[in-house]
Amino acid sequence: MATWVKVCSIGDIPEGEVSTAECNGAELMLVRAGDAVYAADKTCTHAEADLSGGFVAPGAGPDGAPGVRCPLHLSVFELKSGIPLNPPAEAPLRTYRTRIDGDAVYVEV
Ligand code: FES
Repeated sequence: MATWVKVCSIGDIPEGEVSTAECNGAELMLVRAGDAVYAADKTCTHAEADLSGGFVAPGAGPDGAPGVRCPLHLSVFELKSGIPLNPPAEAPLRTYRTRIDGDAVYVEV
C-alpha cells in the first residue's frame, strides 16, 4: 500500500534549482515549478551520474512539465514521466507522486 511521507517544506525547494531529499531509503531529487513539485530518483539511468548536480530545464515536457539535464552527458529527463528526451539515456527515471499540504511537501512511496 502506498504511503505519503513528508519530505520537506515548500520553502526548502528554490525554484529553478534541483533539491534533494531522502525518503524511505530512496535518494530523491525535487524540482519546483510554480505551485507544483516534481519528485524522481536522483541517479541518472545512463551512467549513474548524480542528477542533483544537473540543471533544471523549464517546460521541457510536452505538457510543460520541467525537466532536469544530466550534468555528465546532458540527457534531459522530463520530470512528470521520467522519460529521457534525448540520448544517451534511454531508460526512464522512476518518478513519484507529490502532494502539498499547507507548506509541507509529501511524496508517495
Ligand atoms: S550519466 Fe546521465 S546522461 Fe550519461
